[in-house]
Amino acid sequence: LDNGLALTPPMGWLSWERFECNTNCREDPDNCIGERLVMQMADRMAQDGFLAAGYEYIALDDCWPARDRDPKGNILPDPERFPHGMKALADYVHSLGLKLGLYADVGRHTCAGFPGSLDHYEQDSNTFAEWGVDMVKFDGCNTDEQHFEIGYPLFGFYLNKTRRPIMYSCEWALYARAKGFKANYTAVAETCNTFRVYGDIWDNYESIQSISKWYADDEGNFSAVAAPGSFNDADMLVIGNYGLSKDGAKSQMGFWAMVASPLLMSVDLRTIDTFSKELLQNKRVLKINQDPLGVQGKAIIQFLDGNLQVWTRPLSARGSFAIAIVYLLQVGQPLRTSFSLKQLGLTHQRGYNFTEVFDGGHFGSFKPNENITSFVNPSGIVLLTAEPLN
Ligand code: DGJ
Repeated sequence: LDNGLALTPPMGWLSWERFECNTNCREDPDNCIGERLVMQMADRMAQDGFLAAGYEYIALDDCWPARDRDPKGNILPDPERFPHGMKALADYVHSLGLKLGLYADVGRHTCAGFPGSLDHYEQDSNTFAEWGVDMVKFDGCNTDEQHFEIGYPLFGFYLNKTRRPIMYSCEWALYARAKGFKANYTAVAETCNTFRVYGDIWDNYESIQSISKWYADDEGNFSAVAAPGSFNDADMLVIGNYGLSKDGAKSQMGFWAMVASPLLMSVDLRTIDTFSKELLQNKRVLKINQDPLGVQGKAIIQFLDGNLQVWTRPLSARGSFAIAIVYLLQVGQPLRTSFSLKQLGLTHQRGYNFTEVFDGGHFGSFKPNENITSFVNPSGIVLLTAEPLN
């Protein structure tokens, strides 16, 4: 979407995977979806280096609204969980230098049964703009396919009409596919800044595995529409929660960088461990994700039934690439892999200087007919950059 936003994949925090639809503020006041949770996360983002690393959106997912609209049809936040209202929350978030994201749905109800935006597209767009919202995630529950084709562009039209810059994050392609239709990725990319392409992520490695395989298959060539202003969304980062090993966490971070996905953390930043925090803030990985060329990496080699994948992503620095070797099996010992540079499509005669991305170490210099050899852990990733030598 050519609205001047998301020129690189948006980075931030999104409530869903970690906090889901927890509305139980009476028994669980620290973790229920409400202004307190948002303000505490916003504080952590601003004070603990996340904002400085580039994570700027703090976004609520489903379950923030009141069960009913007001008599004029205006959508309202739940009054008990957001006692000061959304405008005050946006002001607070902005005062820290962050941006506020909200969630709405193309249909009559959200997936969790809260008011959807159908028949209120213009009214809700105006309300969000008045509150000072900077991003809207637009879900696709409780409607039919006909409404996607009309609903997503129409809501985007009204967002744009407010004149407030609002990053538009869609689930159009995902639901179209789920209902058996071919996703029109070109139309989706013209309409939205980011767009989910696969089912919901959960806090386990199997989820990362299936997303990696889906991206490697590249059905409908969806990788081709990724560009500044419009990025395929592989869903939230679950790093720092309960389900991933250290290797699994590095795999998610590295893979999301390779495919230029939005980086929306869904984790409790108040209690996150140091390993996860440093991984999420790793400058070299983020630099790949945020590369201004905005090209989505591709799986150029697959072995072992797609469980060993080699990915390359061209970077903006002339002739440079990011390379990922991904091993999706969770058994046994580290796997020895060896590929010639030519196999990876690296043909610069003088060769390349390779850097190991996670720790920044020098991996070696190699010519196109030479091999790079590495051992990749089960559920692990080897992430490299290659810069051409003069
Ligand atoms: C389905 C979406 O795919 C999820 O990311 C989340 O927004 C839920 N709906 C919320 O109900």
